[in-house]
Amino acid sequence: MTPNRPLLEVKNLKKHFPIRGGLLGRTTAKVYAVDGVSFDIAKGETLSLVGESGCGKSTVGKALLRLYPVTDGEVYLDGQRIDNMAASKLRPMRQRMQVVFQDPFSSLNPRMRIVDILGEPLSNFGMAKNRADLRERVGLLMDKVRLPRDAIDRFPHEFSGGQRQRIGIARALAPGADLIICDEAVSALDVSVKAQIINLLVDLQDELGLALLFISHDLATVEHLTHRVAVMYLGKIVELTDRRTLFAKPHHPYTKALLSAVPVPDPTAPRNRVILTGDVPSPINPPSGCRFHTRCPLVHDRCRVEEPALRTVGEGHSSACHLTHAPGELAMAGSA
Ligand SMILES: Nc1ncnc2c1ncn2[C@@H]1O[C@H](COP(=O)(O)OP(=O)(O)OP(=O)(O)O)[C@@H](O)[C@H]1O
Ligand SMILES: [Mg+2]
Repeated sequence: MTPNRPLLEVKNLKKHFPIRGGLLGRTTAKVYAVDGVSFDIAKGETLSLVGESGCGKSTVGKALLRLYPVTDGEVYLDGQRIDNMAASKLRPMRQRMQVVFQDPFSSLNPRMRIVDILGEPLSNFGMAKNRADLRERVGLLMDKVRLPRDAIDRFPHEFSGGQRQRIGIARALAPGADLIICDEAVSALDVSVKAQIINLLVDLQDELGLALLFISHDLATVEHLTHRVAVMYLGKIVELTDRRTLFAKPHHPYTKALLSAVPVPDPTAPRNRVILTGDVPSPINPPSGCRFHTRCPLVHDRCRVEEPALRTVGEGHSSACHLTHAPGELAMAGSA
């Protein structure tokens, strides 16, 4: 691996879903689920992708995993372009990039014992010499996610939700992945179990140098584990920065609104709350100009017609809002 090269690079990724209608099943409209998203993730780094339901987070994850073809853009894993790679060549990529979904139960075969659930990826990637070796390797995976080894012959229904999510994580680790996409991986868990799984992910990251793309609709969940945060709104990233800056000095009005909804330890402390009104507009027909303009408390005329680019507003901090312009620039833009 070349030093300083990101493990994952995503450039202008788009995923549009055709909507077919009429007798001939022609494409009558498109869902602009992901509409030009760029970010990168370093080895051993956690980037969180947050935003309201339907903004395109899971679609980003699934497009990266090549669960469906991408509409446009480029994706590089360790410098190798993977978005247009022939299906026959995807195997090594799949070994390095794995996913953990929200509901481990539905993705774990109820008729398979843990030894076989975790043994499957090991066999698929030719990582076990024989049955005894496979059992030993499964045992090591169980140690990693802190599941008791004597549970190796149990079935998924014999585990609690948190334990099942540990199995999901072990399955993602099995092929030796260095990037794990966690799509709402802790969202369905109770608070205390959620904290345990988050701690496990942080420990595994330290131990194995894992990179994580952590997808969550909830900013509060990502605060304790992420290095950087990308905020999505209707298929676009509207703000991207490190965790500390995002929580202390958010720039985009949408990020400020999301943060206003995060519970704080002292609810009586003074805060500048930004309450979001109205529903998220449809990604089939996104608003003109800035997609957030229909709900933005700071909207002005320019926002309705001109789409703001994602611009640098500080070191390692970018935001897509016309208010990011330097005052002189705004004045110039206004007089044009
Ligand atoms: N296979 C598909 N066909 C058509 N539209 C789709 C498909 N998958 C997702 N969409 C649409 O794309 C948009 C983004 O969906 P996506 O699941 O990525 O959102 P999300 O941010 O993950 O939401 P949530 O927080 O609810 O999981 C939504 O409008 C969704 O209805
Ligand atoms: Mg989702």
